Amino acid sequence: MSSLRTRVGSLEFENPSMVASGIMDETGLSMVRILQSGAGAAVSKSVGSNPNPGHANPNFIEVNAGCINAMGLPNPGIEAFAEEMEIATKEGKIIGSIYGSNADEFAKLAGRMEDFGACAVELNLSCPHAKGYGIEVGTDPKLVKTIVSAVKAAVEIPVWAKLTPNTHILTDIGKAVEDGGGDTIVAINTLKAMIIAPEFARPVLSNKVGGLSGNAIKPIGVRAVYDLKKAVSIPIVGVGGISNYRDALEYIMAGASAFQIGTAVMDYGPEIFSTVCKGITKFMKRYGYRTIEDMVGIVHE
Ligand code: DHB
Repeated sequence: MSSLRTRVGSLEFENPSMVASGIMDETGLSMVRILQSGAGAAVSKSVGSNPNPGHANPNFIEVNAGCINAMGLPNPGIEAFAEEMEIATKEGKIIGSIYGSNADEFAKLAGRMEDFGACAVELNLSCPHAKGYGIEVGTDPKLVKTIVSAVKAAVEIPVWAKLTPNTHILTDIGKAVEDGGGDTIVAINTLKAMIIAPEFARPVLSNKVGGLSGNAIKPIGVRAVYDLKKAVSIPIVGVGGISNYRDALEYIMAGASAFQIGTAVMDYGPEIFSTVCKGITKFMKRYGYRTIEDMVGIVHE
């Protein structure tokens, strides 16, 4: 018998699939829909201290093999998010994603997410285009360690850190998460990217640059997880361009204990979670794997 039950540190999930932050997870009911469609957990859209309208349109564009977006971290602010969390946590496990500009802000936000019933908090250290946030705080290993340890001191739930591939020192940042006491690394967030409309001689996005997600970034994510697996001993959650069970298995075999799906939900709908899970189960039966754990990081052996 093969089982999809999945462990990520001290947390247990019915299966290894989760919705990635930013896709169908801004409201309680959209997270409920994702969980009812078979995801093992949902990660919320990143929430900050204050309401933020985000960037003006155009803030999203499809490109070959992916999408580029610069939503600008739109969210209602942490206090207003309480009601969404109340709805979502009744249905299943919610990982609360937060963004801040310093350790103190991250710690406060994490404390609120814990109050709202999140099973873990995911630190957005990796949005590629937000002034004062994301990669501006998430590419300095010292600062990452300071932020992670401040959050660890503030909450009891596991602390996940979502890292950017827009760096040549990814493993140093991963080690900083581990040194700060972080429980899990989530890799990768989007890659900084741009698209220009030649007819208008202008960038398409109002913010000019945004984050590239989707199939195009999958091999980068798989390589990132592979490198991180060699560098740290805390669990890794893989994300970036997964749209079928084989993509998910690549991440697992590179070293991910679980995985998140984002952009592909737009193409295939929330049913993608059960489709991918069924594919993994079939694969495990055929190749004789009993648990997800049996496959985690197997390419390193
Ligand atoms: C946004 C945030 C992200 O973390 C990301 O990878 C892409 C876009 C945003 O809200 O603009």
